[in-house]
Amino acid sequence: MASKSLSALLLTSLAAVASARNCKNLTVPLFLSAQNSDFDFKVPSSDIEVTNYVLNFGRTGVSFADEILSENKYRNVTGNYSIAATYCEPDSGPGRALQILIRKYLTYPLSFSQQQLPNGAAFDRNYWHFPAHSYNYSYADAALARNYSVFFYDRPGIGQSSRGDPVNEIQSRLEVAALRELTLRLRRGSLPGLPARRHPKIVHVGHSYGSAQTYALTAAHPSLPSHAAGGSSEDRISDAIALTGFSMGLGTFVNNFLFGGNFVLAKDTDGDKDRESYGPGYIASGDVSAVQSNFFAPDNFDPAILREAYERGAPVAVGELLTIADLTAVNNSYAGPVFVITGENDIAFCGGNCYATNPSIPAQVASFFPNNTLVESYVVAGSGHGLNLEYTAPDTYARILDFFDKSV
Ligand SMILES: *[C@@H]1O[C@H](CO)[C@@H](O)[C@H](O)[C@H]1NC(C)=O
Ligand SMILES: *[C@@H]1O[C@H](CO)[C@@H](O)[C@H](O)[C@H]1NC(C)=O
Ligand SMILES: *[C@@H]1O[C@H](CO)[C@@H](O)[C@H](O)[C@H]1NC(C)=O
Ligand SMILES: *[C@@H]1O[C@H](CO)[C@@H](O)[C@H](O)[C@H]1NC(C)=O
Ligand SMILES: *[C@@H]1O[C@H](CO)[C@@H](O)[C@H](O)[C@H]1NC(C)=O
Ligand SMILES: *[C@@H]1O[C@H](CO)[C@@H](O)[C@H](O)[C@H]1NC(C)=O
Ligand SMILES: *[C@@H]1O[C@H](CO)[C@@H](O)[C@H](O)[C@H]1NC(C)=O
Repeated sequence: MASKSLSALLLTSLAAVASARNCKNLTVPLFLSAQNSDFDFKVPSSDIEVTNYVLNFGRTGVSFADEILSENKYRNVTGNYSIAATYCEPDSGPGRALQILIRKYLTYPLSFSQQQLPNGAAFDRNYWHFPAHSYNYSYADAALARNYSVFFYDRPGIGQSSRGDPVNEIQSRLEVAALRELTLRLRRGSLPGLPARRHPKIVHVGHSYGSAQTYALTAAHPSLPSHAAGGSSEDRISDAIALTGFSMGLGTFVNNFLFGGNFVLAKDTDGDKDRESYGPGYIASGDVSAVQSNFFAPDNFDPAILREAYERGAPVAVGELLTIADLTAVNNSYAGPVFVITGENDIAFCGGNCYATNPSIPAQVASFFPNNTLVESYVVAGSGHGLNLEYTAPDTYARILDFFDKSV
């Protein structure tokens, strides 16, 4: 009895915390245009073909993406996409800045209500607001509690957003075009479903692939176009960025991730029912241990959270993985505050030891942002790549939010 009333009490207090925000689900129509890579590559349509793709991709000394590039090399992709998104602000109204959270490589279903999600719906976004354990692992909640508004979304191709050709359409450049368009609309206050209110301060928080997209966005548009939002030419595309689960070392260590991931067709995994709706070319980790290897550091996580991460992780399109490296191939002249935060044992970006990379993370960051004196980096001791879902998550959230508090 005592324990029952204790858990009732806990639930009540969690509900109180959870209600201290206003959230809205949105469906945003976007017209997007991007110059993608044009590959001569047959969409992997069996697990054997997925493994062939991984083995071809992971060969030392070879750029598989270059090998399969067509004679044209590029293809312009334009189209109308529907983007599923969530916007939340504190109960007291819009926060001191809006944080755009860009999803990591695997994300999780969205359920602010903690109700059972409907079958057949596609899920995503929820790396930032993880539904297990009464939302105990929610960066979004931590940001709202510090008086920030948050916006997060399913990228094109995945979750509840429009699907597309997983080889030549759903690629990094198209994802960055979506991020740019969403950012501009939020600045201008012209996002359908939200009040026509300008967001004068916007920061971006990426994780992993989302960090690479943030990097590319700021590198391509260190400033906003002057016509945007009646804004002045000094307006930045972003007022500050946090690159989480990230370093410049992806090219060196990505094979750990490829081989550790035990990738199979998403529809062949026994995660959410939603997985069945993904066709050829959408891949996901085939078992729980693969998710553990790539995302969780030893002794730093709750096994129930690992299980949830496996079951609810969203797939990735083969075209996305083939084009991730393009996003960080240039130096960045973005001049706003930059925070890089990585787990000590990150497999994909540091080969399992972020203290031992050569160059070190601070040296990498200094060379990629050569003219920016507002760059800081931090390594979370004992954490892996899935920073938001490990026991060290509260420290991770606090570091990111402290950085924004002081710099925005
Ligand atoms: C893609 O669009 C760009 C800019 O509009 C143009 O210069 C280029 O020729 C186009 N490429 C193709 C393959 O159509
Ligand atoms: C996108 O939608 C707009 C408005 O509905 C339409 O005019 C346009 O033709 C569409 N473009 C494409 C490429 O489908
Ligand atoms: C949150 O930020 C807004 C905008 O800066 C401000 O008006 C409001 O007073 C802040 N709320 C709290 C509770 O600090
Ligand atoms: C947003 O969508 C999710 C999943 O469909 C649903 O569980 C949740 O209740 C919705 N939230 C709001 C605020 O409507
Ligand atoms: C850094 O500044 C130098 C000197 O002004 C300039 O030549 C270079 O292009 C800048 N690099 C970046 C990435 O902004
Ligand atoms: C980036 O800048 C560094 C200097 O900080 C320079 O050594 C390097 O060649 C530049 N890389 C590119 C791709 O321009
Ligand atoms: C929430 O997480 C913290 C640290 O990760 C842990 O100490 C606490 O027991 C968790 N609470 C719940 C309700 O799961």
